[in-house]
Amino acid sequence: MSRKRIAVLVSGSGSNLQALIDSAKEGYFDADIVLVISNNSNAFGLERAKKANIVSKVVSLSDFESREIYDKELIKVINEHDIDLVVLAGYMLICSEAFVDGFYGRLINLHPSLLPSFAGADGIGDALNYGAKITGVTVHFVDKGCDTGPVIMQEAIEIKEGESKENLAEKIHKIEHKLLPKAVKYFVEGKLKLEGRKVSVF
Ligand code: GRF
Repeated sequence: MSRKRIAVLVSGSGSNLQALIDSAKEGYFDADIVLVISNNSNAFGLERAKKANIVSKVVSLSDFESREIYDKELIKVINEHDIDLVVLAGYMLICSEAFVDGFYGRLINLHPSLLPSFAGADGIGDALNYGAKITGVTVHFVDKGCDTGPVIMQEAIEIKEGESKENLAEKIHKIEHKLLPKAVKYFVEGKLKLEGRKVSVF
């Protein structure tokens, strides 16, 4: 069986991209990160890709007339690289229907809360402001909604009394850096079965 090829989409720091790059390098999963795309030319994730000799590409929304045309370009670039799995790792744009249709079942996202609680752009801050006692991390298949797709894996963490956002974010990122590579490993090994909303890991 040939090694799986993964594309990672990032908008910012890319610490989760780094976790995937390191996991691939260590042989934690049998797949290669072959493409990194960012909508933000200043994303540090692009530097990480460069350092790891991974092809990277900036596709800026502002260069396209509409969201649909932008997503068409993304689909084209991804398909040109013969990609088995697309990972959204801190990619801060919501995918269009055409994008989701093109990759459904092989498109996963990472979110810093226990979905369906605290979906949206600031999952960590929203959980803190709400006064939640528990939050966590979710890895899920992407569907047409915002952070609504079938859950692959979740891990919970307690929010301590008076905890700062920085502190909580640090703990959440630590969990993400383990959980995302684990979900990718299961995908690559064909261990994820998606039926309706349910994902079984076997
Ligand atoms: C992560 O917390 C992820 O859950 C969210 O965006 C953040 C990206 O962090 N979707 P990084 O760019 O991987 O460091």
